[in-house]
Parts: sequence; C-alpha cells; structure tokens
Amino acid sequence: MESTVSAEHDRQFFDTFMIVLGALVAFTLLVYFLANAIHARTQGAYIEENPLKAEQIAARLAPVTAAAEPMAAPAAVPMAPAPATAPAPVPAEPAPAAVTAAVDAEAVYNSACMACHTLGVAGAPKHEDVEAWAPRIARGIDTLYANAINGYQGEAGIMPAKGGRLDLSDDEVKAAVDFMVDAAQ
Ligand code: HEC
Repeated sequence: MESTVSAEHDRQFFDTFMIVLGALVAFTLLVYFLANAIHARTQGAYIEENPLKAEQIAARLAPVTAAAEPMAAPAAVPMAPAPATAPAPVPAEPAPAAVTAAVDAEAVYNSACMACHTLGVAGAPKHEDVEAWAPRIARGIDTLYANAINGYQGEAGIMPAKGGRLDLSDDEVKAAVDFMVDAAQ
C-alpha cells in the first residue's frame, strides 16, 4: 500500500522532471538558431561578407613591418568562409618627403604647434609673447631644440615630443622652433 503510493509519486516526479528538461533543451535550441539567424543578417551580411570590411580587418591585423614588404597575404585569419578578396592594399604610407633644404617653418608651426602655442594652451609659451619666451631663449637654442624634439615636462606644463607629431623630422621641428623664437625677439 505504502509502496504503491510512493511509486506513483516517483512516476509523477519523473514525468514532470522530463517535461522540464525537454523544455530547457528546446529553449536552448531555439536560442541557438535565433542567434545564428541574427548573426547571418547582421555580422555575417555586413561584416564577414563585405570585402571592404575584410580588407580593413586584414590591414589592421597585418604586422606593422608589412608596410615595407609588398604585403604578404593577410595572415591566416580564422574567419567564416569569406569570399576570397584581393590582398588588402597596404595603407597608403606617405612617401618620405624628399628632404628639401628649405623647410616651410611656418607651415610646420601652423600644422603642429599652433594648436597649443598660439593661445598658450596648457601653459605653452605663447607665440610672439616676448616675455614668455625670453627666459627660455636665454637657456640656449639647443635646449629649446632638444625639448621640442624629445618633449619634456616643465613647470608650466607638458610639451609633447614634436608636439605629438612624430612624423615630423628633427629639422622640421627645429625650423618651427626658430620660427617661434624669431617671432618672440
Ligand atoms: C599639446 C600642446 C603643445 C603642442 C602641440 C606643442 N607644444 Fe611646445 N610646449 C607646450 C607646453 C605646455 C610648453 C611649456 C612647457 C613648460 O615649460 O612647462 C611648451 C614649450 C615649448 C618650447 C620651449 C622649450 C623650453 O625649453 O622652454 C618650445 C621650443 C616648443 N614648445 C616648441 C614646440 C614646437 C616646435 C611645436 C610644434 C612642432 C610645439 N611646441 C607644439 C605645449 C605644446
């Protein structure tokens, strides 16, 4: 008597348990297929199958030194079977400007130094401000060159190396320093 009730109870528990388990499995499969469908319509369609994106990704993943080489095939990127794309072009590297004797100092100043030095942003000695420049000029032009090229932390603020424009040559930076020093005489 006791045992029949208990067996009945076990059956019920087992049935309910299997139903819950089945529902969870069904839900898992639903989420899986839903995610796949969404992926195919978004990431898949807009990123993985877009040759332009694939190129950009390959270019970003390419080793930095690749710029020197004729561009090795984009290193094995384990990606979905993206359509074969032409090897990504090496991002246009500005050809090293022929070292011209005459550097356009004002142009360098305008493009790289002006942002801080025209208004004296963050403690930068202002352009044409004789008083601000006098003590600096007194320390010698070579110090100014070195500080402008290598950057330094002074009492007034931080002068970033080459004004943050590391693409500038030392001569261009020196020319810009001369330009500012001349203007502050
Ligand atoms: C992000 C702002 C910023 C830019 C851009 C910038 N400077 Fe400066 N520069 C400063 C600051 C700030 C100082 C003052 C630091 C101090 O003395 O505390 C300074 C100081 C200097 C000095 C004085 C150095 C000394 O020894 O007293 C020179 C020379 C100079 N800058 C040259 C340049 C040149 C050339 C460029 C462009 C290629 C440039 N700066 C771009 C912020 C800047």
